[in-house]
Amino acid sequence: MCGIVGYIGHRPAYPILVKGLKRLEYRGYDSAGVALIDDAQHLNIYKTKGKVSDLEAFTQQKDTSGTIGIAHTRWATHGEPCTANAHPHYSSSGRLALIHNGIIENYAVLREKLQTKGYTFRSSTDTEVLVQLIEYIQDLNQLDLLTAVQLALQEVIGAYAIAILDREHPDQLIAARKSSPLVVGIGQGEFFLASDATPIVEYTDQVVYLDDGEIALIRRDQPLRIVDLNNVECPHEVKTVAMNLGQLEKGGFPHFMLKEIFEQPDCINDCMRGRVNVDGDNVVLSAVIDHKERLLNAKRFVIVACGTSWHAALIGKHLIESFCRIPVEVEYASEFRYRDPVITPDDVVIAISQSGETADTLAAVELAKSRGAFIYGICNAIGSSIPRATHTGSYIHVGPEIGVASTKAFTGQVTVLTMLALTLAREKQTIGQDEYLYIVRQLVRIPEKMKEVLLLNDRIAQLAKIFTYAHNFIYLGRGYSYPVALEGALKLKEISYIHAEGYPAAEMKHGPIALIDAEMPVVVIATQNGLYEKVLSNIQEIKARKGRVIALVTKGDTVVSQIADTCIELPETPECLEPLITTVPLQMLAYHIAVCKGMDVDQPRNLAKSVTVE
Ligand code: AGP
Ligand code: GLU
Repeated sequence: MCGIVGYIGHRPAYPILVKGLKRLEYRGYDSAGVALIDDAQHLNIYKTKGKVSDLEAFTQQKDTSGTIGIAHTRWATHGEPCTANAHPHYSSSGRLALIHNGIIENYAVLREKLQTKGYTFRSSTDTEVLVQLIEYIQDLNQLDLLTAVQLALQEVIGAYAIAILDREHPDQLIAARKSSPLVVGIGQGEFFLASDATPIVEYTDQVVYLDDGEIALIRRDQPLRIVDLNNVECPHEVKTVAMNLGQLEKGGFPHFMLKEIFEQPDCINDCMRGRVNVDGDNVVLSAVIDHKERLLNAKRFVIVACGTSWHAALIGKHLIESFCRIPVEVEYASEFRYRDPVITPDDVVIAISQSGETADTLAAVELAKSRGAFIYGICNAIGSSIPRATHTGSYIHVGPEIGVASTKAFTGQVTVLTMLALTLAREKQTIGQDEYLYIVRQLVRIPEKMKEVLLLNDRIAQLAKIFTYAHNFIYLGRGYSYPVALEGALKLKEISYIHAEGYPAAEMKHGPIALIDAEMPVVVIATQNGLYEKVLSNIQEIKARKGRVIALVTKGDTVVSQIADTCIELPETPECLEPLITTVPLQMLAYHIAVCKGMDVDQPRNLAKSVTVE
């Protein structure tokens, strides 16, 4: 999610706020805004779609005075990127201004409640509901702002980092967090607030990291006060920031790619949030329910995508065919769009795209739509071109992906495809209740298993050192693991420039095995599932020709370790969910080999994050 910045002190707030937003630019965003209280206690709010530089241009001739303010860069989750939906949002009286990172899951229920009280809304965001709710509670009960915020947040379900201003109290700034980060910087007679320390460190290295459920009452010339939702004082430790700006932008990681690999457990939780119930035994993708007739009556599904998203599509094919018994075809969007494909109104076309701007995928969507197909999007960037071209869809909600090599978006796409297949299978009754419950409960456990796999990072970094010499790699997998083999090979290719190919393991004997010799590292996904014995034979075939085998195995496997050169043990996971686990070590392997080779991991040569040309 995007960026929050706040300031209260003795300096003009605006320059500090805008510079702070620019420090958070790496987090990606689609709109930006600022709220300031001037010396006459006017609350001035300026916001624009686009970049921080667009906000600066917009405020050129505006009154940006004042020594207190908040500012926000938005990564939209609810409501298209546009000026009306940009933050700060203000209360109906115009007295309060609020900015928010995160998702208010129960915003619709809260909005309906406020609408019955006569409230109207200027935006389609979840955030605006919160600022209206706070004012409603404050006015109804004649409360101070802090108490109203505490009571309002007790009604909120979801994730938030918020900051709120009251023009009638220009000497205070209130901030609160739950799941989304917030840091308070403590200066000399001034305070700073931000999503991370990046915008703060040039002014002070003394910071307090808010914990979940904490509210910061930041007042001019008074000590920082932190309380919980029940107004109980929270002890807090003032820490000294040791990292430099570059390190801070990457959260202390050396590269965005490694940061995003490590973000995956949280991202998959964000992706499932509001879609898997609190008891973890039921999945509902609202877009599937809203259009279930069209989806259930489809003669087939066609999935169009490119690159890593195409690999996710292959897993989606396996999931949908296995759970829903609906035929699925997977197409490279670039081939589909020029092949004059047979597409009819009986078809459902799923378009998968992290950026939502890939030219070939967008063109494939337009072609399919022109022939009457129903289009379902699975994207990350809210309001991007592909979601706007679809009939419906599900966002993956993994936050901005900065590294060119896609990692968290891939596992987010696979998670949404899994939830889509489960939701549809439940509606179609093509999955038994016991199997459904088992898979949903296992899906909920994926983030914790991912964390376990991430503990292998140092070991994989060591392993990577012996392969920096390699000029070729082969990746093998079967069933659900075949697309993972393709994805692992792509990760290595695009950031280390080592040639790598992914293959169905059984295909080796149809030609590629001629490549095997002692110089050829072969990564084999050999976890214990339905095809384990077959993969074992494939490994034997490779070893017989002196190939070097790196095997991904299920924890406790004692067989493969007897024949493979290296084994990486992974937590046991149902076969249909394994891609979410087996992909992670392959991401780390590619990353560490590229780092050992001194490559530009986040911006590999010849590549762009979004291929908006053919
Ligand atoms: C993945 O690591 C690559 N950067 C690339 O293959 C990417 O997946 C492809 O360009 C599709 O992008 P999209 O998901 O944004 O449509
Ligand atoms: N959910 C809010 C919105 O869509 C905040 C998004 C963000 O974290 O930037 O406006």
